[in-house]
Amino acid sequence: MKDIFSSKVHIPPSATVTINSIAQQKKKAGQRVYNLSAGEPIMNTAQYLKETVDWAMEHGETLYPPVAGIDELRNRASLWMNDLYQTNYQVKNTLITCGGKFGIYLLLQSLLNDGDEVIVISPYWVSYPPMVSLFGGRPVIVQTEEKDGWKVRPEQIAAACSEKTKLLIFNNGSNPTGVLYEEQELRDILKVCKEKNILIMSDEVYSGLTYDKKDYVSCGAFWDHSDSVVVIQSCSKNFGMTGWRVGIVFAPEEITKKLITVQGQSITGTSIISQWAAVAAIEKAHKITPEINKEMKHRRDVFTDTFNELFPGANLQAPHSAFYSFIPLKAFGTYHDDDVKFCERALEDGNVAMVPGSAFGKPGYVRTSFGAKPEELIDAIKALADYANKHAKK
Ligand SMILES: Cc1ncc(COP(=O)(O)O)c(C=O)c1O
Repeated sequence: MKDIFSSKVHIPPSATVTINSIAQQKKKAGQRVYNLSAGEPIMNTAQYLKETVDWAMEHGETLYPPVAGIDELRNRASLWMNDLYQTNYQVKNTLITCGGKFGIYLLLQSLLNDGDEVIVISPYWVSYPPMVSLFGGRPVIVQTEEKDGWKVRPEQIAAACSEKTKLLIFNNGSNPTGVLYEEQELRDILKVCKEKNILIMSDEVYSGLTYDKKDYVSCGAFWDHSDSVVVIQSCSKNFGMTGWRVGIVFAPEEITKKLITVQGQSITGTSIISQWAAVAAIEKAHKITPEINKEMKHRRDVFTDTFNELFPGANLQAPHSAFYSFIPLKAFGTYHDDDVKFCERALEDGNVAMVPGSAFGKPGYVRTSFGAKPEELIDAIKALADYANKHAKK
């Protein structure tokens, strides 16, 4: 059959979603699967969320939502961001989307013409390059290295810019490396973007999950750059609400207006029930965020300590943010030298789900998540160690 699809949808499926669904299928088939691939903080649904849903049902909050989001949420979300990160957003700069992911999608769809270049820093979140391609853009990958703490230098960004560059995709509080940038580093990156006249999309969905007394600095806090910065936020990781699908875009008014138009012609808006749940979460953010943060730090420490105990010599360092460890293949001590094959075999034969570094633009590494509950993390690392021992380098 001739190819009926647009050349733009010749993109790979999301590796994380794919691995996660294979793990779910194995589970459904009755196998015990150790899931180190999930990109979510696995928590029980909070009572206040259940009560909010009941309230929304009783009050008829079940009709189409306003395209840009309900006023209560746009208002609260902008105040939340301003209070926490000293940004300067108003309702007119705030758009509620179906997860941070759809915010990114809308932005790229609204900005890109065929051939426009977008700088993406590797290791990157799996969806950035395919989304750029989906809208005819060309991802220009800038590599960072573990020895440099996975940080990009401003001169690398400058060198990657061309006449066609429109946007830098920047992920502070990174999936997969957990890298966290400091104020001066951000200032230097923003300065280069201004000199090169490009926009920055700062993906800040892990902003609440920073550890070791590291403060989170938002790109939105640099008011003199507010014309060129779009911040992506989300309730998913900050409030443990992945399945509710509530994200927030903070952008200059002109960009927000365009995104609202495109959202109105596509998904209409985000589930109104979820939006009310997000209002409730943001109202309680001062309580919920520290609780989730504390729990995720505990899981991080359990993960790192158990890993180092069962993989002696790995010397895994605990990341300062998010909930992933990006681990060099050599740390596992197996004869595998291909991260994709290693993850396939570990899932197939060892029932341990992880995501290969290749999916993040960095072969030779494996991304594990410590979003699962501590006892599950321990069992998973034991299962992984069993698998690795059976396939150890002789
Ligand atoms: C870096 C990054 N950005 C954005 C998202 C999208 O999150 P959501 O759509 O759940 O808000 C994710 C989810 O894994 C992520 O890791």
